[in-house]
Amino acid sequence: MKRTAINELRGRRVWDSRGRPTVEAEVVLGNGAWGRAIAPAGASTGAGEAKDLRDGDAPFGGLGVRRAVANVNGPIRSALLTMDVRAQAAIDAKLIALDGTADKSRLGANALVAVSLACAQAAAAAARVPLWRHLAGERRIALPVPQIQIFGGGAHARGRVDIQDYLVVCPGAGSFAEALEWTAEVYAAAGARLAKKNALQGVADEGGYWPAFRSNEEGLVELVGAIADSGLKPGDDVAIALDIAATQLWRGGRYHLALENRALSADQMIAMLLRWTDAYPIVSIEDPFAETDHAAMQAFTRAAGARLQIVGDDYFVTDAARLRAGAERGACNAILLKPNQIGTLSETLAAWQAAQEAGYGAIVSARSGETEDVSIVHLAVGWGVPQLKVGSFSRSERMAKWNEGLRIEEALGTKALLYPAQRLFGRRRGQTPVDKS
Ligand code: PGA
Ligand code: ZN
Repeated sequence: MKRTAINELRGRRVWDSRGRPTVEAEVVLGNGAWGRAIAPAGASTGAGEAKDLRDGDAPFGGLGVRRAVANVNGPIRSALLTMDVRAQAAIDAKLIALDGTADKSRLGANALVAVSLACAQAAAAAARVPLWRHLAGERRIALPVPQIQIFGGGAHARGRVDIQDYLVVCPGAGSFAEALEWTAEVYAAAGARLAKKNALQGVADEGGYWPAFRSNEEGLVELVGAIADSGLKPGDDVAIALDIAATQLWRGGRYHLALENRALSADQMIAMLLRWTDAYPIVSIEDPFAETDHAAMQAFTRAAGARLQIVGDDYFVTDAARLRAGAERGACNAILLKPNQIGTLSETLAAWQAAQEAGYGAIVSARSGETEDVSIVHLAVGWGVPQLKVGSFSRSERMAKWNEGLRIEEALGTKALLYPAQRLFGRRRGQTPVDKS
């Protein structure tokens, strides 16, 4: 048996951060090296996403993964045994062909992504390096700029506020570690502010506070207040990013803000977001419009794209072809990269490459249903993706990922660099953007 050949592949059911079943895959090689990965799961999923295979019958509200696990232990195992684990592209091509559907629904995107990632982990283990180093080779590394959720709403908090994520980014931080330090202060300050006004209802699915605001804009006011309470400068030190997840608000041709008891046309929504970006230090807005509302995405990108990062999540679903079509249309200027949204590592990498060719920004992202698996941090670092979004600053399925970033930063020692945030957000902050070359 060749050292790097796949000698054993196992699937098993484990549980995610919402207490729901998910798929873990474990790959063992001829030389005994092994890798393991767990599929995450979304709640506000895009219609174009690859589909998890769920059992659909009684236990666990139909969310069981008995069939997906059986697919790992049956047909996927048979197809991959003896393959060289270093041939990630060939492995992923085999997975895609074996599934045979456009949306990965036959074997399940949950089965596929766990296996694809576990193979990458095993290949890194065989080379006796961490996955980020295995992916980067000798390329120079920069740590990604974190986007960290402070308030959670939308589908992750039973719609208590309409906006799904109020996040912070730290354009003024000099290192990954410093960005986390500042975020810790802001997170604590935000909690204290909400407690004081009796607006604290617990934490949402990604660990951000679940707030009882009277309007969506109140979240922006509170976030700026929390940054200032922490002794940091809103905009220069710490800025705001939003994920509207607007597909969730879209019904009958209007955007429904249930909290405010009103429904906006696309034009009214554009006007509101433009007003917000003038009034608050917002540097990035994700899914500002529904996944089908191309006209609004284009109009908003024309109006604000020069000074704002506009991110397609449901809009691009980590799909290189959709990214290229969006770039042609002039919709958004950045893409969220979620491996389980497309199904395999190679397709996720293709989306990142398409983004680079189109001059789009990119953010590696976790899902609202997560686990102790920290592979995505390694993907962001190893592929040189400039931003990372894994939820809030509480709950260990989130903190495990921030902590992994710290370990990588420490391993790099004096060579550690944070991706220069002024390249990403400089225009918004009134600075001259650094030349991309
Ligand atoms: P999801 O949310 O994992 O529920 O899709 C994350 C996001 O919208 O970015
Ligand atoms: Zn999103």
